[in-house]
Amino acid sequence: MNEADATDRPNPAGIYDYILGGTANSAVDRAAADRALKVLPELGESAWANRGFLQRAVARMADEWGVRQFLDLGAGLPTQRSTHEVLAEHCPDGRVVYVDRDPLAVERGDVLLRGIAGATMVRADIRDVEQVLSAPRTRELVDLELPVGILLVAVTQFLPDEDDPWALVRRYVEAVPPGSYVAISAPTSDKQSERVVGNVRSEMARAGARAVSRSRAEFTRFFEGLEIVPPYPGAEPVVVHVGQWGAEDPEVADDDGSRWFYAAVARKP
Ligand SMILES: C[S@@+](CC[C@H](N)C(=O)[O-])C[C@H]1O[C@@H](n2cnc3c(N)ncnc32)[C@H](O)[C@@H]1O
Repeated sequence: MNEADATDRPNPAGIYDYILGGTANSAVDRAAADRALKVLPELGESAWANRGFLQRAVARMADEWGVRQFLDLGAGLPTQRSTHEVLAEHCPDGRVVYVDRDPLAVERGDVLLRGIAGATMVRADIRDVEQVLSAPRTRELVDLELPVGILLVAVTQFLPDEDDPWALVRRYVEAVPPGSYVAISAPTSDKQSERVVGNVRSEMARAGARAVSRSRAEFTRFFEGLEIVPPYPGAEPVVVHVGQWGAEDPEVADDDGSRWFYAAVARKP
């Protein structure tokens, strides 16, 4: 990013981009990310485990299940081999609508996507399903009569229980036809010590961020009424840690970063 774009406040999408090794971030984003990495050194591993999940899920939806159009909800910046780049490798006619509520992420994203026909950014709060689905840019790229890949990667933690994120997932699922798929990853503290979780919470509170971590049962509820697919060959159709999904060697992939997130992909029957 051009430093001239920088503001004096860290931007979540910029922080995430920096943690992924991208360049679409400002000095304040980098400083905030470095502070977070001090509290949680495996944050980089964790962000990459998530990005790897997104990439493998999109590739599998395109190659195995013929999905050609995607809604990437809470997308952040379209950098570091994001959805449109994976699609370019697997189905060049694929289309993706990136949705984020953060004006700076959308502004930067618009610049990054300039000249790319099958990808666009929509600025909206994903809780406003109607606004997301009826946005002119969404309607241009996504035909709701055909199967859609709905991606909610590392975003439902920003939706507290009062927002009923389970109902939100259902509303998106209801809007798409059978044969559509939903991919979700979300943080959990099931495998973490109370001390580490406490440290992470206080650092987030200091940064003014609020994120919910969910148990396996709470995460699994996102997929009610859907058919969870086996995450890798020979696996049962279950929720796994994010690095394991689609991994060549699920045991090796289940590292400390991976254990901060659950992931699953499910089909709408
Ligand atoms: C941790 S980033 C994840 C980005 C991307 N999905 C990925 O996995 O690389 C979360 C993003 O969700 C966005 N976000 C959080 N709550 C949102 C909401 N209610 N509506 C739209 N975007 C939201 C934030 O602005 C941020 O860019």
